[in-house]
Amino acid sequence: MTVNKKLIEQARLARTRARAPYSGYAVGAAVLGGSGAIYPGCNVESGAYPTTMCAERIAIYNAISAGEESLQALAIVTKDGGTPCGACHQVIYEQCGDIPIYLASENSSEAVEYRSTQLLPFPFNLNEH
Ligand code: THU
Repeated sequence: MTVNKKLIEQARLARTRARAPYSGYAVGAAVLGGSGAIYPGCNVESGAYPTTMCAERIAIYNAISAGEESLQALAIVTKDGGTPCGACHQVIYEQCGDIPIYLASENSSEAVEYRSTQLLPFPFNLNEH
């Protein structure tokens, strides 16, 4: 299995662990670290709504917490292959740079590939200010 397929499979598995009782929208993510290890994330919702955390950010923070210094690719699985939210786009760009992002839906083995800067063409970069 290619590393991209593994990444998508891990995102699919992570999605089964989502805690989304309020929205019903389960999201699974998986990020590939520079070491070759894969880190999962799922969305975890809270009754205090703004403290909910997205799957992508959990996966990225999971990898960083484990000691990964570079993050090389991200896969996201939702029911419909949806794109990340704006906050996640910014975190993906800042922590991963211009990486491939694979978007997959629950009923398809196919994924669509984008790059971070395609999905967020004008990211905020504090170093430019
Ligand atoms: N969600 C994610 O996990 N990632 C995104 O990029 C978009 C939104 C979650 C947050 C919330 O639990 C649910 O999807 C509906 O917004």
